[in-house]
Amino acid sequence: MSDQPPILTNIGQTDFAEAACERLNGCDICPDYAECLNTRRENHETWLVGERMKDIRHRIFITSGKGGVGKSTLTAGVAVALARKGLKVALIDADIHGPNIPQMLVAEHSEAARHGKGLQLDEIGIVPVVPMPEEAPGLGLISMDYFIESSDDAVMWKGPLKKDLIRQLIASVNWGERDVLLFDLPPGTGDEPMMVTEIVDRIDGAVVVSTPQKVALLDARKSISMARHLDVPVLGMVENMTDEDLFGADQVKKSADELNVPYLGSVPLERRIIKLADEGKSIIVENPESEAAQAINALADDIMRALNA
Ligand SMILES: Nc1ncnc2c1ncn2[C@@H]1O[C@H](COP(=O)(O)OP(=O)(O)O)[C@@H](O)[C@H]1O
Ligand SMILES: [Mg+2]
Repeated sequence: MSDQPPILTNIGQTDFAEAACERLNGCDICPDYAECLNTRRENHETWLVGERMKDIRHRIFITSGKGGVGKSTLTAGVAVALARKGLKVALIDADIHGPNIPQMLVAEHSEAARHGKGLQLDEIGIVPVVPMPEEAPGLGLISMDYFIESSDDAVMWKGPLKKDLIRQLIASVNWGERDVLLFDLPPGTGDEPMMVTEIVDRIDGAVVVSTPQKVALLDARKSISMARHLDVPVLGMVENMTDEDLFGADQVKKSADELNVPYLGSVPLERRIIKLADEGKSIIVENPESEAAQAINALADDIMRALNA
């Protein structure tokens, strides 16, 4: 689009002055962007994140120590499930290294796919993409994928630059009122969960995903200690890709019991999930009767119950 936000064009310039700015629009659409100093923009965006968060009731992330355990799949699934229960849901895909949510939820050639390519703006910010306007109208989405031009560049982004980008992603979007905000983050206990927690000031809960494999379970334990370190309540652990013949039963439940965190059930290994993800469709919509869809629905209920407790 022609008025693409000028993302991070001034990083690295020297700042000598700061002044308060309380404009309700994000810096990315500010007419004075080019003249503004980095520190001033950073302060404004920090303030603006607070404004945006005021009308969002619960903020959570679904995390895992390992990649590939189904964190994005479950985050997308829970988001769709909650929206279909009538909640207003915001989904922020802050995975700089692999922003997969649009691939999983936005069907090719749909209106949402067009919207994602040329983000629309209103007077005070970016309008969230609505991936399933018919099936889940209450779900809005923003992804790093819409922000970064080349994901190859992003792999090399480090510390402060990453934090600036994540802050900008959160500050730029006009979410309006939402019942719940879900973050999809990169795997591991690296910088991102800490950055997001710092930027939004408060995360109300973390759900830790693990497959029944020992290597995944080991890393999931690290995610729990990370959440505790960040003062984020652990809502519970969920097992994904359950296959009792392959791994035996209740592997994640045993860990949850040992670690003294709630166990939120299991989502079976389901081939249709893989195929649907490639088509930008959700099993919650396409095969609601499947065991996997029902498990994700139950997980969504458990999460809301824990948040409202
Ligand atoms: N329950 C499941 N059954 C079958 N495939 C799954 C399931 N959950 C996730 N997958 C698949 O596993 C792969 C990794 O999932 P993803 O959500 O991208 O993991 P992460 O975000 O943890 O890296 C994807 O191809 C996804 O479609
Ligand atoms: Mg992922």
